[in-house]
Amino acid sequence: MFASKLISNSTAAGRKSSAFVATYDVAVGRNSYFSTPTTRRNSTTPTTTTIDSSGFDKIGCVGLGLMGHGICQVAATSGVHSKIIAFEQEQRFLDSGNDRILKSIDKLVEKGKLTLDDANDAMGRTEFTTDMDALRDVDLVVEAVIENIDLKKDLYTSLGEICKPETIFASNTSSLSIGEMAAFSGRPDRFLGVHFFNPVQLMKVVEVIKTDDTDPIVLEKGLKWVEEIGKVSVLCGDTPGFIVNRILVPMLMQSMSLIDRKDASVKDIDVAMKLGCGHPMGPLHLADYIGLDTCYFIVSGWMEKYPDESDFFIPACLQANIEAGNLGRKTGKGFYHWEGEKRGDPVY
Ligand code: 3HC
Repeated sequence: MFASKLISNSTAAGRKSSAFVATYDVAVGRNSYFSTPTTRRNSTTPTTTTIDSSGFDKIGCVGLGLMGHGICQVAATSGVHSKIIAFEQEQRFLDSGNDRILKSIDKLVEKGKLTLDDANDAMGRTEFTTDMDALRDVDLVVEAVIENIDLKKDLYTSLGEICKPETIFASNTSSLSIGEMAAFSGRPDRFLGVHFFNPVQLMKVVEVIKTDDTDPIVLEKGLKWVEEIGKVSVLCGDTPGFIVNRILVPMLMQSMSLIDRKDASVKDIDVAMKLGCGHPMGPLHLADYIGLDTCYFIVSGWMEKYPDESDFFIPACLQANIEAGNLGRKTGKGFYHWEGEKRGDPVY
C-alpha cells in the first residue's frame, strides 16, 4: 500500500505556490460573490476586505479525532503551510490520528487524487507531538477536541498562555458558544469559529463564525485561510448550531420522531429524503454516520441552554439507542447495522 511509501514525519519539505492550491472550483463560492476588495451586504461581515492572504505560515491542529485528523490532513495537503503541528495530549490519540491521516491519504493516492510526492510533502510538513509547547509560535491554532466546554476552557487558558500574542485561535465546535471559549483565551479579538463537516476530506464547506469581539482582520484571515485550503467559506454569527446544524439537527430529530410514532420505517424515511430532496444520505443513515452520541450531545446541550425552543428535543428512539450503547457506525449498530464503514440493514 502507498502508506508504506509515505514518510510519516520528516523535516519540512518545500512549500507549494498558492496557485497549486486553488484547484477547487469556487464558481459558487466566495471568490465569485465576494471578490476582493468588495463591499459586503451581509450585516455579519466587515464592509471591505483588505488582505491578499491569510498569512498563516505555521499552524497548529489540536485534537486529531474524527474531525481534527481531517482538518490537519486538508491543511497539510493544501501545501500552503510551511509547518503543521499536530497535537494530542496522549500518545495513543496522536498515533490513531496519524494512522487515520495515513489511511485517508493512502485512499487519495490510490485513486489518483493526490500524487505520492504531494502526499510525502504533506506528511513531511506535519510534526506530530504531545508537547503543547510546540504550538508556541504558530500563526493559527485550529482546535477540534471533544465537545466539553470545561475541557475547552482549560485548553484555551493554557493555549492563551503558551502561544505568541499574535496567534489566532479557531474552534471547530459544532454546537458550543464561540464567545464563551474566547473569553478564556485572553484574546477574544483573535478568536473565531471554523466549523468543518464530516468527512472533512470530502465536504467542501466550512462555516466561519465571528463573535462581537472578533477583529475584522482576524475574520478576513479566517475566511482567506478556508479558501486557501481549498474549501468554500460561509459566514455566520455565534448562534446555536450556526447555519448547517441549526437546520440539520432538528431535521434529524424530526425523522426520529416519525420512528417514535411508527409513522414510517427507517428505510422509507431515508429513501424519501434521498429521492424526494436529493440528499446524499437519508437522515437516519446520516445520524448513524455522524454518531448518535454526537447528535444527542448537541441537542441535550441546546435543550439545557434554550428550554423554550421547541425544535430542540430528544426523541425516545434516540434516547433508547444511547442507553443501549448503540451509537451508530462507530459501535456497529444504531438505526442500521454497520460493518466498519459499510452500512447494513436497518435495525427496525
Ligand atoms: N478520505 C479519503 N477518501 C474518502 C474518505 C476519506 N475520509 N471518505 C470517503 N472517501 C472516498 C471513498 O473511498 C470514495 O472514493 P471513490 O468514489 O473513488 O470510490 C469516495 O470518497 C466517495 O465515498 P463513498 O463511495 O463511500 O460514498 P458517497 O459517494 O456516498 O460519498 C459522502 C460519501 C461524501 C460522505 C456522501 O455520502 C455525503 O455527502 N453524505 C452526507 C455527509 C454529510 O451530510 N456530512 C455532514 C454531516 S454533519 C457534520 O459533519 C457537522 C457536525 O458538526 C455534526
